[in-house]
Amino acid sequence: MQKNHKSIGLFGYHSIQYFTRELEKTIQWHKEKFGFVEIAKSSPEWEKKNGMRSVVLNGSGRLGWIFTEPIEKASSAGRYLNMHPDGVAFLNFKVKNLKNTAEFLVDRKAAFLYDIETHKSNNDGVWKEVAIATAIDDVGFRFIEENSYEQFAPGFIWTNKDAKDNLNPLGLDLGIDHVTCNARSMHSITEFYRHCLGFEQYWGIEFHTTHHTTEHSTGSGLESIVMWDKESGIKFATNQPLSPYFNNSQIEIYIEDNHGSGIQHIAIGTKNIIHAVSQIKERKAVFLEASDKYYQQLPDRMNTMNLKKINEPMDVIQKNNILLDGANGKYLLQIFMKEQSIQFDNKNYGPFFYEIIQREGDDSFGEGNFKALFDSIEKQQVADQRQEMRDRIDSLS
Ligand SMILES: [Fe+2]
Repeated sequence: MQKNHKSIGLFGYHSIQYFTRELEKTIQWHKEKFGFVEIAKSSPEWEKKNGMRSVVLNGSGRLGWIFTEPIEKASSAGRYLNMHPDGVAFLNFKVKNLKNTAEFLVDRKAAFLYDIETHKSNNDGVWKEVAIATAIDDVGFRFIEENSYEQFAPGFIWTNKDAKDNLNPLGLDLGIDHVTCNARSMHSITEFYRHCLGFEQYWGIEFHTTHHTTEHSTGSGLESIVMWDKESGIKFATNQPLSPYFNNSQIEIYIEDNHGSGIQHIAIGTKNIIHAVSQIKERKAVFLEASDKYYQQLPDRMNTMNLKKINEPMDVIQKNNILLDGANGKYLLQIFMKEQSIQFDNKNYGPFFYEIIQREGDDSFGEGNFKALFDSIEKQQVADQRQEMRDRIDSLS
C-alpha cells in the first residue's frame, strides 16, 4: 500500500449539503431567486434509514445543492439543527482516487466520521465516499470518487435527470469561487486546512472599520486568512474578530447567531455579474448596499489601484450596488447578499449568506471592499439591535 501521498487529490466540488428546518420553503427560495432546478431527491428507503429527507437542485457549473431536513431528531440533520440555525453542514469534494485521499487523511490524523463506503449501480457504476470532521464546529467534509454511477448519489433518485447538465439561466455557471468560515479563533481552522488537508496560505488581511454609532464607540475589526489547495485551486477564507471592540465584530455576532463557528458565505462565480444580480434583484432577494460615498470615492480608488477602466458601465455597477476592486489593470466585481435570516425574516434561517463574483483577471478577495462590506453589515446589525430594543420596549409598555 503506497502511503505518503503528495496531495489530497481534490479536483473540484461535487455538491454542497445544506441542513434546513423547512425544506420546501428553502428549495423554493433557491429555485425562485437563483433559477436552480430540481434534479433528484432521496429515496423512501434512504429517508427511512437516515431519518432525513433531501432534494437536490442543479445550481451552477454542474454543482449539486443538496437540501436536507430532518424527519427524526436523532438524524445528523436533526442533531445539527438542534445546535445551529439552518446552514451549510457538508462540503462534498470530488477526488481522483478515494483510497489515496483516505490514506493521505489517515497519515495526517484526520478524524473520520465513517469508513470508506462503496456502492455499485446496475450499470456497473461505482461510488466511493468517506467523510471527516473538521475544525469548523459541526461542519463535515466528504470526499467522493465517482465513476459512471447512475444516480445523483447512493440513496437518491433522479426526478429530472435531463436538467443535470443545464446551465444556470441567470449565468451563475462558474461554480464555487470560495467558501468563507467564521470562528472566534481562526487558527485551529487554518491549521486544520494546513495539517489535515495539505493546504497552503494564499492571502491574509486585517483591518478595523470606522465608528458608526454615536451612542457608543464601536466599529470592529477582522483578521482573515485564505488557504488554498494549489492543485485544484480550491480556496477557503477564515475570519476571526479583531480587538478592540471584539464583541462588536460582525464575526462575533455571526458566531453568536450561528451558535458556534460555521460557514459564513459561499461565493458563486459568474461571467456576467450585472445580468445575474439584476435578475436576482427582480426576484426580490436582498443585497447589502454600499453607500453613495463608496461610489464617489471609486474614481480615486481606481487611480490608486492603477485601474484605468473597466468594461462594465459604471452607472449600472452603481445602480446594482456592485463593488469593484483590483490592481494593475485587472479587477473583480462582487456583491454580497443579506443573510438568509433577513431574506426569510426568520432567525431560524441563520446568518449564512451568498456572494456573487465576477473575476476579470484579479485573483484577490476584494481587500478594498472588505471595509465597505463590513460597514454595511454592521449598519444592518446596529439597525437590527435598535429594532430589537424598540420591540422589547414596546412589549413592556
Ligand atoms: Fe467572499
